[in-house]
Amino acid sequence: MTEVFARLFSPLTVGRTRLKNRVVLTPHAHVVSSLWGTEDDARGHIAYWRARTDAAWIDGVSAHVRNRVPPGFEPSGIGAQIPGHFRTPFFMDRVGELAETVHADGTILTVQMILQGGMPHGPSAGLSGPTTHLVSHPMTPADIGYFVEEYAFSASQAIAAGADGVELHLNHDDMLEWFISPLTNHRTDEFGGSMAGRLEFPRRIIDAIRAAIGPKPLVGIRFTLREDEPGGYQEEHGAHLVSELERLTAIDYVSVTWGSPWGNPSYIQAQQHPPAPGAVFTGALRAATRLPIVYTGRVNSPQVAERVLADGHADLVGMARAILADPELLSKAREGRANEIRPCVAGNECINRRVVENLPFSCAVNPVAAREHHPLPSPAASPRRILVVGGGPAGLEVAARAAGRGHDVELWESNPHLGGQLAVAARAPGHEDYRRYLRWHADEARRRGVRIHTERAGEPDGVLAYGADTVVIATGATPRRPTVPGFDLPGVVLSTDVLEGTATLPDGPVLVVAEDDHLPPLAVADHLANVLGHDATLVVSTSGPAPLLSRYSLGSALARLDEGGVRLLSDRAVTGVESTPEGLQVIGRHVYSGRERSLGTFAAVVLSCGAVPRTGLASALEGRHPDVHVLGDAFAPRRLVWATRQAYDLALML
Ligand SMILES: Cc1cc2nc3c(=O)[nH]c(=O)nc-3n(C[C@H](O)[C@H](O)[C@H](O)COP(=O)(O)O)c2cc1C
Ligand code: SF4
Repeated sequence: MTEVFARLFSPLTVGRTRLKNRVVLTPHAHVVSSLWGTEDDARGHIAYWRARTDAAWIDGVSAHVRNRVPPGFEPSGIGAQIPGHFRTPFFMDRVGELAETVHADGTILTVQMILQGGMPHGPSAGLSGPTTHLVSHPMTPADIGYFVEEYAFSASQAIAAGADGVELHLNHDDMLEWFISPLTNHRTDEFGGSMAGRLEFPRRIIDAIRAAIGPKPLVGIRFTLREDEPGGYQEEHGAHLVSELERLTAIDYVSVTWGSPWGNPSYIQAQQHPPAPGAVFTGALRAATRLPIVYTGRVNSPQVAERVLADGHADLVGMARAILADPELLSKAREGRANEIRPCVAGNECINRRVVENLPFSCAVNPVAAREHHPLPSPAASPRRILVVGGGPAGLEVAARAAGRGHDVELWESNPHLGGQLAVAARAPGHEDYRRYLRWHADEARRRGVRIHTERAGEPDGVLAYGADTVVIATGATPRRPTVPGFDLPGVVLSTDVLEGTATLPDGPVLVVAEDDHLPPLAVADHLANVLGHDATLVVSTSGPAPLLSRYSLGSALARLDEGGVRLLSDRAVTGVESTPEGLQVIGRHVYSGRERSLGTFAAVVLSCGAVPRTGLASALEGRHPDVHVLGDAFAPRRLVWATRQAYDLALML
């Protein structure tokens, strides 16, 4: 039976603005491609949103308000900047063009006004966060007066450019969140002390904005519903703060998020969290305010969106990653094709690799994201017979994309099931989204006409006998077992065998050896401790676990390890394992001092040390077939995002 998302597609009036449905795309695209960068960046940014105007509302411009610092002072921290965006010469043109673009499809545009994270301003000389230790400059009344005027000027620029409203970033470690929170505001003057005092600065800003832009444009707040931090506020107090702002000012809506920029969860909740985990906290807010509520956070499908609305948790749903992963989410839902929606896997590559590795934006499941302004795949000029060997994400992606271009594609997978290493990773706690994604991917490949054969190994002679014009080798990688003395002993097992259940571990303490800088070692330690009930220790040679995971993902993974009692040893490289009557004695070297000592005796040692490419087929075909391509982990083992991106680019070339 076709699903009907009646609430999701019903119109609503917010303030004086009519919305065509209940979906708000909340800010994120400045990371995809900057509206404030080069002309090409701006084209990319606008094209990104143009592809997503099925939503009623694009809260799409993340813009920093001009800062005020003494000459020579260098702001640092997440939102560090001085000039801001509202006064740049191209602000009017670019915001104007974006507004015109989205208006053409009946979608509205709002501009978020940000001063986030150690600018260096704060209400008091406190820390910028429990895991970031910059001390704020305690703002003077003159600073406050400056910002009131700057926000009003900035809002009037946004509206003059053509936006339909502005939003105060009152969340995520913004200067304004620090003012309203008892955790960070310790002032005793009129801008602190009581709740009214803590709200005084945002109140003045909102009044000044209204005076500058008049009653019609939307003015709203993005708001952290609960701070989940000793001394911070929870949702009941959050509800009071909002209802006071509603009483004192002319705001039109409240857009709630849950989570901090660093904690568990972060406000970009990673895969360990269920869909819409914070929606249940809106009850107090509902009771305290008549403002329309937008709820955002892991609303990852139209079904979840409809449920959040049906349960009365919100009047609108915010979505970022789900629509990043599939811009056609809403049209597919409306057309009864919800099963065709490409699911977001919530691994947060979209933010992690930008902030940690400084790599260009990419989505793990949607390689088109950020390239909407590039030519889309066109039908192949001369369709070919393509054989893809390997049914992991790289193989599935290239097969589906190539078939979509009109090629005749067959895919062979040696295992009884598809998915490769990702199917194994999906067995770890909180990794179910990988399974969902793999199911979608296999269906998508079949929908596009790929013939999939499982339990069919790609032997060189069989591959050649098939007679394909093009062979794509996506045979993946095998888990890596480092050549360390004792790593071949019984009781030293691979993490993949633990997840697949093919390695049975004896009772007793287990050591996980990590030679992988991302999530997998943490995921297997989580599985060992929280699913199998082992006393687990994780040893890493880096100064902390998973250095390639940003603070938007790390907190939730580490919280689960702590809950499972997992001990962490850092800066230690394992140099040997010896079998003793008590168990496996593990020797480690401090990577900086060089000192070797025992790390303890364990019943088992689990190796989470990455993987090595399977190169056999490629070597065997060398010089025997004219058109062979090696893809994904079979080329060099990396994360999902590498596989899908490389597969997409190859499919465009074929
Ligand atoms: C890459 C990226 C950048 C983001 N930037 C902002 C921002 O500038 N302002 C903001 O309020 N939220 C920002 N967010 C948070 C999102 O708007 C949203 O609240 C969050 O991703 C959770 O929603 P989702 O589960 O639908 O992705 C960002 C999220 C992502 C993934
Ligand atoms: S990168 Fe990952 S978390 Fe981000 S939108 Fe894509 S699938 Fe979702």
